Amino acid sequence: MKGVILAGGLATRLRPLTSVTNKHLLPVYNKPMIYYPLEMMKRTGIKEVLLITSGGHVGDFANLLLSGEEFGLRLYYAIQQNPTGGIADGLKLAEEFARKEPILVILGDNIFNFDLTASIARFESVLERDKKGAMVFGVRREKLAQQYGVIEMDKDGKVLSIEEKPENPKSDVAQTGIYVYDQRVFDFTRNLEPSARGQLEVTDLNNIYLKEQSLLCETIDWWVDAGTSHDELLQANIQVAELVKQGKL
Ligand code: DAU
Repeated sequence: MKGVILAGGLATRLRPLTSVTNKHLLPVYNKPMIYYPLEMMKRTGIKEVLLITSGGHVGDFANLLLSGEEFGLRLYYAIQQNPTGGIADGLKLAEEFARKEPILVILGDNIFNFDLTASIARFESVLERDKKGAMVFGVRREKLAQQYGVIEMDKDGKVLSIEEKPENPKSDVAQTGIYVYDQRVFDFTRNLEPSARGQLEVTDLNNIYLKEQSLLCETIDWWVDAGTSHDELLQANIQVAELVKQGKL
């Protein structure tokens, strides 16, 4: 399996912190934000990762991360020409890199301490059996506040619906920015239409798998999306500092 990290976007919600730098280079406690998804890739046993970002900042990432040796993996870079084209638009750039292998995608502003190894093993055995599949990860949230995709599940954990930032959420489970896809994901991204906010949405992609009943879902306990607002970034710093001191991250 190959790894893909998305670190594009313009992060207008975090200005002026992001006026001259990319949000994934901002500090979260003692490291730049981008270190956290990279460390999760390593922990999951991924050996090659494609980092997708905007043209204006790719040099900063390369200066910081070099070829990925510090993380025990090989790092490649790709430039998303329209940095706000959407997550599924960015993913298109990973097609050649993936070489028909499944991909683990982590959004560059997502921080979590869940060990993905068992989930990936489950995904791989389903893929072996059914020759198709995708996996999403949910987390329970008291307030969804139209910030996240929302996953509705039945009592056995089967996904019933996923909606992008709905006004009236059908559940309290937020869709995290951790996804696993089979090699057909690139065919699916080609057929997506831009949403009302002008993006190729990861939720639309996940709904294709849901429709053909090949979407798996797991829930994780702790997760922060550090890049949504100044408050989320502050909370991420506080929570990460605490977990690092407790040896839990
Ligand atoms: O973080 C989880 C949420 O991420 C999910 O709950 C939503 O379903 C999903 O759509 C996404 O929502 P956001 O609207 O918060 O995504 P955002 O625009 O903040 O971008 C998430 C990451 O993807 C961020 O690290 C930047 C990167 N990105 C984003 C866009 C729009 C790109 O690399 N390219 C892009 O074109």
